Amino acid sequence: MKHPSFYSRSSLLVASLAIQLITVTASGGGGSSGVTSSSTVAALKNYNAMFTFGDSMDETGNICAASSNKTELDVLTCTRSPYGETYFGRPACRWCDGRVVVDFIAQALGLPFVPPSKAKGKDFRRGVSMAITGGTAMNFSFYKSLGIEDPVWNHGSLDTQIQWFKELMPSICGTERSCKGYLKESLFMFGGYGGNDYNVQLLELGLTPLQAMNYTPKIVTAIANGVEKLIALGAVHVVVPGIFPTGCLPIFLSLFGDAAGETDFDGTGCLKPHNRLTEYHNSLLRKQVDALQRKHHNSTRIMYADYYSLVYQMVQEPEKFGFSKPFEACCGAGGGKYNFDVTARCGMEGATTACRDPSTRLSWDGIHPTEEVNKVIAGALLRGPYCTPPILG
Ligand SMILES: *[C@@H]1O[C@H](CO)[C@@H](O)[C@H](O)[C@H]1NC(C)=O
Ligand SMILES: *[C@@H]1O[C@H](CO)[C@@H](O)[C@H](O)[C@H]1NC(C)=O
Ligand SMILES: *[C@@H]1O[C@H](CO)[C@@H](O)[C@H](O)[C@H]1NC(C)=O
Repeated sequence: MKHPSFYSRSSLLVASLAIQLITVTASGGGGSSGVTSSSTVAALKNYNAMFTFGDSMDETGNICAASSNKTELDVLTCTRSPYGETYFGRPACRWCDGRVVVDFIAQALGLPFVPPSKAKGKDFRRGVSMAITGGTAMNFSFYKSLGIEDPVWNHGSLDTQIQWFKELMPSICGTERSCKGYLKESLFMFGGYGGNDYNVQLLELGLTPLQAMNYTPKIVTAIANGVEKLIALGAVHVVVPGIFPTGCLPIFLSLFGDAAGETDFDGTGCLKPHNRLTEYHNSLLRKQVDALQRKHHNSTRIMYADYYSLVYQMVQEPEKFGFSKPFEACCGAGGGKYNFDVTARCGMEGATTACRDPSTRLSWDGIHPTEEVNKVIAGALLRGPYCTPPILG
């Protein structure tokens, strides 16, 4: 198998996971005021189900159900301790010490945790997750055309995930017509997508953040087209998240920080070029979300979730949120400012124990946030102000 970059496959994987988290912080800048068009559709108090899409940030088990490849599962360390130690008491195929954002939202809405779509014999009527580690906005064929062969990027792109959902629809809501009636009372969490699309470019193709911006319009259009597909299937309430501020993630800081010049860091200690890429992605996405809402104002309620602003604020003023050491992975190896080593990532040899109190930390494994951060994000999506409009109205 050829690898076009000098990064190992496992480092890429990690990076892709990290990106997702990072995206949360990057989209911000403008706070929550980006979406201006409003919907005439009211928020619901009781959603009948929650359907989720995305990547490792929202992983709730698909990668473990889908991969029978032992080598790959060894790279995918979310199957190992100390993942899951805070809440589940065991690795729960989530990239976190406990619950991910969609878990907290499910609990707040009185819904069960979303089972992975690849689980056999489950009832999906109250929700199901299509999200899978490595998920991208663009098709794998697109990355193949750029010379990418690593199968980790081919687990389930956005279009593939929508296809999985379509195949499950008869078991969830019956006919096309009855599905329209059912799905209009469901909550759709569509991504964040995009993090891995940039991970492929930065970590595998070795592009600079500036070069990666060339593909942003394509990536954002793929996400917007995905939202249109969901609407055509009957979705009414759709949350579309931007991505984290990747320039603040331990993985990128440790991979690119050394080579970066002083002027590449912002006053907080994040990498400006990476955050600029994320902000660019988020600003284009917000525009497209706004245009979609305007187009479907009388029949849908599209909610833009500004992960970037919220996470960036946590990085800038961690004490305000009860956090410390915002750049240090809670579970990792190598110590120092970032405690991140691609060859000894959380769950691997040398990194089998977490920091003493994960609830005081932002970064769980150098890529993904801690359960505590996910809890704050979920609260902000449900009640605002980092979701426009908030899920609960
Ligand atoms: C299993 O995964 C490893 C690592 O990604 C890969 O090199 C190998 O080709 C895969 N094996 C099969 C049978 O797919
Ligand atoms: C992915 O491939 C399918 C089938 O070839 C195509 O219809 C779709 O437009 C592609 N999606 C993206 C985001 O390029
Ligand atoms: C929503 O608006 C579109 C055009 O803007 C119109 O064709 C459609 O009939 C409207 N639907 C409802 C339910 O009012």
